[in-house]
Amino acid sequence: MKNHKKRPHILVIHGPNLNMLGKREPETYGHTTLQEVNSELEKLGESMGVAVETFQSNHEGEIIDRIQHAIGTCAGLIINPAAYTHTSIAIRDALLLLDVPIIEVHISDISKRESFRHTSMITDISTGQVMGQGVRGYFSALESIAKMIA
Ligand code: DQA
Repeated sequence: MKNHKKRPHILVIHGPNLNMLGKREPETYGHTTLQEVNSELEKLGESMGVAVETFQSNHEGEIIDRIQHAIGTCAGLIINPAAYTHTSIAIRDALLLLDVPIIEVHISDISKRESFRHTSMITDISTGQVMGQGVRGYFSALESIAKMIA
């Protein structure tokens, strides 16, 4: 598929414990699995003419490696750093290497939860933030990023 290769590439990164979506605290994060979220994102991307690649890791260094690998290859990044949101200056520094729109996503509304979740290391360097919309937040993030790079 020659056409497919030319589509702008959007990378979606999910941080630690998000591989357990569906099983993990469903009252907070819902019943949808990560696999379901990712395949919806891929389908939605296709309908909007962008190629979506998804990546999940429980390891900070692997997330940083994936961000570095995205330099010059992706047109936009959606990231839910999960618990690393609140702690990782290293992920923040890696994101600063990218010169493309970045949308920070949180399934829950971190501003209404424990005080240690109120600080995000990446909000001020992100292009946009979506939170408290459940997994639908990923889909609205993809819609906005696709419009930004159109
Ligand atoms: C989260 C919120 C974080 O505080 C938490 O550690 C997560 C998920 C969210 O999507 O709501 O793992 O990023």
